[in-house]
Amino acid sequence: MTVQPPIAMLAELTHRCPLACPYCSNPLALVQKDRELPTEVWADVFRQAADMGVLQLHLSGGEPAARPDLVALTQAAREAGLYVNLITSGIGLTPRRIGQLEDAGLDHIQLSLQGTNAELADWIGGYNGGFDRKMQVADEIKARGIPLTLNAVMHRHNLDDLDRTFDMALEMGARRLEVACVQFHGWATQNRGMLLPTRAQTAATKRKVAEAAKRLQGILAIDFVPPDYYAEYPKACMGGWGTAGLNVTPEGKVLPCHAAETIPHLQFDTVTDRPLAEIWYNSAAFNAYRGTDWLPEPCQSCDRKEVDFGGCRCQALALAGDANATDPVCRHAPGRGQVDALLAAAEADETTAFTYRRVAAT
Ligand code: SF4
Ligand code: FES
Repeated sequence: MTVQPPIAMLAELTHRCPLACPYCSNPLALVQKDRELPTEVWADVFRQAADMGVLQLHLSGGEPAARPDLVALTQAAREAGLYVNLITSGIGLTPRRIGQLEDAGLDHIQLSLQGTNAELADWIGGYNGGFDRKMQVADEIKARGIPLTLNAVMHRHNLDDLDRTFDMALEMGARRLEVACVQFHGWATQNRGMLLPTRAQTAATKRKVAEAAKRLQGILAIDFVPPDYYAEYPKACMGGWGTAGLNVTPEGKVLPCHAAETIPHLQFDTVTDRPLAEIWYNSAAFNAYRGTDWLPEPCQSCDRKEVDFGGCRCQALALAGDANATDPVCRHAPGRGQVDALLAAAEADETTAFTYRRVAAT
């Protein structure tokens, strides 16, 4: 197959974060501060990304605002010619810093929403006062007219607040709302029973999103990431392995997706050891699951194989114990019974406390 250049790069600037979200998709073993790439190495990675055809850069974490050089990194990325999106909880952004980011050329902010009121949001995020600070940040973004997407991470404990979530996106002046149901990678698997929505919630959410998308057409774009355990077919994770995007970890490992390091037989190259383009085009890890030639049955004879590429490799590993298997979410997968068993267990789950992830933000 002909490999095209990536369109987007996610730069995980740090794993440090003041929040403790129970659905954090970052790996169980986090990169410590002293192993994070310095400013000048990130700047070089941004130039290499732009040279190979990347258009969009997502500055992420952890909480990217925990990096004192966030403004310099934004400026470096803009100078490289990239469209720069900041994915943030808002904690660590002051009005002054938002102004500096705007001056540095920041194109867009994606603000996460843990819940629609302080009590709910601070419980979910495990951070007292976080909601109020986020609302101040949202006010500042609105006042400056910086393009905003509200990223509402949804699960059993906040899905019933969806109508208020639509209203909040409108009040903040967001142009786009992501209703992103929790995906189970990294730390999120520790809280699966607490987080999986019920079947009734999932059906109601689909209906409400469809109604709101119609009602708010031209005012607010709504992206919906459904809870895929209830789906009949898996998603084309990352738009296909090694197809549209890449992730760089805080220490510079280049990954085809954020959970790829869970796949034990793959080795990942680092930006300090090998040029980014060489890693994208030639590394064994990026070529491991590209295209459809590697697909097992039943995918190999399925007419959806160019649509979903057999689903998510990391989910296949996590649920079926084999990264080469058909994603167990698929109704044709030999492992589908495991997903159904997890859904049944979640319906009966009576846990009332989250297991929080605690990571120092300093
Ligand atoms: Fe996708 Fe494979 Fe399922 Fe077909 S059998 S829908 S290709 S996961
Ligand atoms: Fe790794 Fe889906 S998260 S392939």
